[in-house]
Amino acid sequence: MRKKIVAGNWKMNKTFEEADELLNDISEALEAETIDPSVGLIVCPPFPYLEIASDVSDESYFQVGAQNVSDQEMGAYTGEVSATMLQYMDIAYCIVGHSERRAYYHETDAIVAAKVNQLLAHEIQPIVCCGEVLEEREANRQFEVVKTQIQDGLFHLSAEEFAQVIIAYEPVWAIGTGKTATPAQAQEMHAFIRSLIAEKYGAQVADNTSILYGGSCKPSNAKELFANPDVDGGLIGGASLNANDFLAIAKAF
Ligand code: PGA
Repeated sequence: MRKKIVAGNWKMNKTFEEADELLNDISEALEAETIDPSVGLIVCPPFPYLEIASDVSDESYFQVGAQNVSDQEMGAYTGEVSATMLQYMDIAYCIVGHSERRAYYHETDAIVAAKVNQLLAHEIQPIVCCGEVLEEREANRQFEVVKTQIQDGLFHLSAEEFAQVIIAYEPVWAIGTGKTATPAQAQEMHAFIRSLIAEKYGAQVADNTSILYGGSCKPSNAKELFANPDVDGGLIGGASLNANDFLAIAKAF
């Protein structure tokens, strides 16, 4: 059975003190509340906070992910962080191909594929983002766009490798805009993504793949989004910056 997952993407937010406070708030709230043990909770802070996040997570229920990784193994790549380095820090997950990286840092599907390879070679589970921009949805091109992203970013993997992948469908027009995909729009795309996986790797691999929704997911809409059969959780931006909101989303299943 596939895992339910709620992952928080902090992006480039929080001072060190604020990050420390948020991590401890999450940990304390997790002591006070009962989260369904079948829900995996992942916190993805900026690189400099991975170590304190790992320290707090050691005593808590959540796990830690990174927001990015280099597509290269090692060497003269100033400013990059390798999968080897993340693995050494015991980082279990890493976001790849977020729309902000695609838009601002020109991350192509080929780069996404190379990053996924690096992560899998270092036993880190990739959380691979896909999703269309508004003009593409308005032109009814969302399925074609997502299909290309999934095929070119992931379908070079063997079935065994693909089994480590988590997918996040994040319509770009819904990210940070307060505008959420309707539960029907999310379900429709998630079912489509699962059908692509089934075609390529078979029904069992498709059934076992967690597909998260991202884009203005918050406590007030998480329940109706997660109620859909193909929505296995969320990748949460803004609402993950507050411990109570983040946990309220995790409790929405
Ligand atoms: P948002 O961001 O929840 O703030 O819309 C989601 C994301 O970018 O992963």
